[in-house]
Amino acid sequence: MSTAPLDQLPEQKAELLQAIAGISTLEMLREEEPRITGKRSILSTLQRSLGSLDPDARKDAGATLQEVRHEVEAALAARRAELERSARSETLEVDRLDLGDVVVSSLKWPLGVGHPGLVASTQQELEDVFIGMGFSVADGPEVESDWYNFEALNIPPAHPARGMWDTFYVELGEPETVVLRTHTSPTQIHLMEAAVANGTLPIHSVMPGRCFRRDTPDARHLATFHQIEGLVVDRGISFADLAGVIETFTRAYFGADIESRLRPAYFPFTEPSAEFEITCTICRGEGCRTCSRTGWIELGGCGMLDPAVLEAVGIDGNEWSGFAFGFGIDRCAQMRHQIADMRALIENDVRFLEQFS
Ligand code: DAH
Repeated sequence: MSTAPLDQLPEQKAELLQAIAGISTLEMLREEEPRITGKRSILSTLQRSLGSLDPDARKDAGATLQEVRHEVEAALAARRAELERSARSETLEVDRLDLGDVVVSSLKWPLGVGHPGLVASTQQELEDVFIGMGFSVADGPEVESDWYNFEALNIPPAHPARGMWDTFYVELGEPETVVLRTHTSPTQIHLMEAAVANGTLPIHSVMPGRCFRRDTPDARHLATFHQIEGLVVDRGISFADLAGVIETFTRAYFGADIESRLRPAYFPFTEPSAEFEITCTICRGEGCRTCSRTGWIELGGCGMLDPAVLEAVGIDGNEWSGFAFGFGIDRCAQMRHQIADMRALIENDVRFLEQFS
């Protein structure tokens, strides 16, 4: 009897599955969905027609119809997932930002060429001046053990002078506590040790590099800054040699009208020790706010090598003597270019940087 409600079910199911396979966009899916599984769909119409069957036949037919409904709904869900996936990758493709494209297309041709920053070029100029005076240039590690940064420089643990170079001590366990170097002076120790080991004394070297302190940045201080260290170890070196080197450097770098002077000071690794000052480059010695009306600006420290330092590295103080000095490279750049606030050196403001190309 072909009037039974589910007679056509296999064909109807095949038609629905074919319709689902033919759906090509999410929008089309939204339009077709009511016709496939909605209240007015063939499946719902068949469901309603089952009411005319007797209870047993209705139960069987209901189960069959339910099975087909599940199959159709699963096919529709799979199609939806597929369409959503491809829509998403299409969006990604369209929205993809090729940074290379953006950067290149926004460049103005001909391209501008970058240049070393002010600190790097200042370091280069300082090295050139010292090379011209017969010094060689050496490098040292930025991470030092307590021994190099302090003890070998005659600054034992708990010595009050450690306060001048306060920093964060990192205990890595045995053998030693480690610090980011607070000055370039530890490089002196490396150089002297190497010269002793290799039998290459005398030493005439400068050692530029980055240093770190537990400092709050202000107009004249940075927590990460640069120093250049000088070291001479030779026979018959006197304080006059030190004063001559400082004065020669000052005039060569800052100009003939800028002088240097030495004032007694204290550093654990030199004896005697001095601070060296130069004529204030802002007022040319007249006295101004920058130099607290003294006409002089402090640049760094210096002195004759302390016998305790020579002893720490195994150099015979009866045969050899020497001097050392150290000063801030950033401070030099500040003085030379009359930069009011040193923080400008690390702010990366192109308007500032471009003035020194
Ligand atoms: N290392 C000292 C500092 O950072 C500067 C200094 C003083 C270096 C005297 C020297 C020196 O070589 O002899 O404050």
